[in-house]
Amino acid sequence: MEFKSEEPHGFGVFIEIIIFAFFNRGDDSMKKQFVLFIAVIFTFLMVSSAYAKKAECPQPRKTKSAPAAIAKKDNSAKANKANGKKLYNKTAKPMACKMCHGDKGDGLGKLGAAFKSPVAPRNFTCSKTMAKVSPGQMFWIIKNGSKGTGMAKMKLKDKEIWDVIKYIREDIMK
Ligand code: HEC
Repeated sequence: MEFKSEEPHGFGVFIEIIIFAFFNRGDDSMKKQFVLFIAVIFTFLMVSSAYAKKAECPQPRKTKSAPAAIAKKDNSAKANKANGKKLYNKTAKPMACKMCHGDKGDGLGKLGAAFKSPVAPRNFTCSKTMAKVSPGQMFWIIKNGSKGTGMAKMKLKDKEIWDVIKYIREDIMK
């Protein structure tokens, strides 16, 4: 659940003070339980709002460069974009790309939040940063991983890697 607001904390604390003032009056137990339930919900909203992050752009990037010959390669023209989309969202092994890179490709996937910048998942929607990332560079990192970051080497065939690159470059990148 996302709870994006400019002032989520102030508001949450305000509501909690009211709830707890009410709770402490010591009325019947049904009411107490209900109020406690509401307090738990608000606590949850406050905690999740503390984790709601904005996509970073430009994004710091220290990723190793692919060897020049590979960086220049681009076999995505004849690749299968529909299959790339499926790999990105579901079938890629060991894990679907969207778990870290997000379904919008902004790097804010469910697991992405666990990785902090400068090794946060790449935000593919950030054209400033992606201008430095060629199709061949993407291929190299997807095939080999980026050591010391959450970007593990993916168990995909070369053809599947080009499929997912085509999907990212044509449908996600801006
Ligand atoms: C467990 C989390 C995770 C998963 C799953 C994941 N990535 Fe990544 N990815 C990262 C992180 C973290 C980075 C940033 C690495 C760095 O800064 O060196 C990254 C970086 C990248 C980059 C940028 C390379 C560059 O040179 O800047 C590409 C392209 C990429 N991932 C593609 C994919 C694709 C395609 C998939 C699915 C097949 C995928 N990733 C799955 C975490 C993940």
